Amino acid sequence: MSLPPGPAPAPPPFDRPIRLREVRLASGLVLGAFLLTHFGNHALGLVSVEAMEAVRGAFNLLWRNPLGTILLYGSLLLHFLLALQALYRRRTLRMPLREAMQLSLGLALPFLLIPHVTGTRIELALTGHEADYPDVVRNLWTLNPASGVRQAAALVIAWLHGCLGVYFWLRAKPWFSRYALALYTGALVVPLLALLGFAEAGREIAAAPERFPRMPEPPLGPDILSDIRLGLYGAFAALIGGALAARAIRISWTWSKRLRITYPGDRVVTVPQGFSVLEASRTAGIQHPSVCGGRGRCSTCRVRVLEGHDGQPSPGAQERATLARIKAAPNVRLACQFRPLRDVCVAPVLSAGRTRLMEPGRGGRAARGQEREIAVLFCDLRGFTSLTERRLPFDTVFLLNRYFEVVGRAVEEVGGHVDKFVGDGALALFGLSTNPEQASRQAVDAALRIGAGVAELNEAYSSELDRPLRIAMSLHAGPAIVGEMGYGQATSLTAIGDTLNAASRLEELAKELDAELVISDDLARRTTLNLVQHERQTLTIRGRIAPIDVWIIRDARTVVSTG
Ligand code: FES
Repeated sequence: MSLPPGPAPAPPPFDRPIRLREVRLASGLVLGAFLLTHFGNHALGLVSVEAMEAVRGAFNLLWRNPLGTILLYGSLLLHFLLALQALYRRRTLRMPLREAMQLSLGLALPFLLIPHVTGTRIELALTGHEADYPDVVRNLWTLNPASGVRQAAALVIAWLHGCLGVYFWLRAKPWFSRYALALYTGALVVPLLALLGFAEAGREIAAAPERFPRMPEPPLGPDILSDIRLGLYGAFAALIGGALAARAIRISWTWSKRLRITYPGDRVVTVPQGFSVLEASRTAGIQHPSVCGGRGRCSTCRVRVLEGHDGQPSPGAQERATLARIKAAPNVRLACQFRPLRDVCVAPVLSAGRTRLMEPGRGGRAARGQEREIAVLFCDLRGFTSLTERRLPFDTVFLLNRYFEVVGRAVEEVGGHVDKFVGDGALALFGLSTNPEQASRQAVDAALRIGAGVAELNEAYSSELDRPLRIAMSLHAGPAIVGEMGYGQATSLTAIGDTLNAASRLEELAKELDAELVISDDLARRTTLNLVQHERQTLTIRGRIAPIDVWIIRDARTVVSTG
């Protein structure tokens, strides 16, 4: 079975420079932690106003010490400036609804938060006057309800903005779907409890005002705070306006340096310098495969540069690594990474056709293709061809179906997915809805069940078989692209990638070595298998740069787990 190339491994996180997106994420996480503690404090209103006030001490200790203050307000400013920078760099303001919501909520936030920040932190910094919880709640609940509604809206919007950010960050993680319900529930329950706590505290204070004496008025007149508020509104509005103006200038400048990308059929797309070939294809509505979503890891977007190859920017590290893995010709580039500096003529190597996998944004996650850490099992009957030569076809089909039944049951009983049966071979995937460790354990379990099942078949049909059925299996784990692939009725959930190629080679190796099972060390390390009594080898696999450590198991029944 020949398999297309899969995602190139991402560089280890500490081997590459920190990117601005990561700084934005880190600052967002600080703000998220602040909101969480703030909401937690509000929620205590469901207990009592005194409980809120008591915990406010710990909250202030955390966020109002010099370090906490710098961290909080530094993150706020940094996050906002980085959002503006991202806005400035965007080539188009066309974006999916959720992304547009996150952006607009984020930009609206400063305007919603300024009154609260002015009335609390700025006033405190200027006068040392600090309103306590009852005073703040009374002010927002009884005296100035409009400002209370605005304040509640600001906090909910900030929370929503943060939740969208966390969603964009985590949605591609292999484990996200398992925890999605818990995360969605938390996202809903936290602000709800905070709002209920705040309302309950407001009612408690209104019902018994004598229990909560009012604090003296702050020494600063309202005009001064109002001037500060106006100044802040103006400053933030100027920053957003400046970013949009700078973006407009940049775009008109880049459009002044246009270039032409010619596609097969003499179709010409004119784009500003700086566009990648994939962006050009999308802009012009040309279907272009991009299984990894333009991250330079799958190679499905690759194009042959037919003219204008010279004088173009060289491939970056990620593109070089992926092109090297597929042994691409020198004139082949990844469309998602290749940003031509002058006119080029390109031809996509893979045609998108009408396959659903190639159309990001349509259908479910599986239909779009998703990168996951999975475990893979390849299984083959050895010497089956010679076995069939001496049998009637009906006998062969019967025997083959009994063997497929053993494999299919073993895989499904442990929670795996039978990908396909080809000839007398089978491919099974594990980890489509479990974590990599569970997936690896499931794969081992399935292999042992298949071994035992085939032994039972041999016993049951001993009188019919000239010699016992023998199998060769391989187990490997790693990243793969999982998605629905195929055409029409022949579309099914399957996986492609280096992990599958390697597993397929390991199965061939099992045959060569006359072993029942070959397990990659990558998979074994995710299980509690004790393999010390088995032979270990380091192999170089055709089409794979990095060597792979494997365990050779002559008889699968000798595999023991320490777990
Ligand atoms: S390498 Fe995957 S889309 Fe370009």
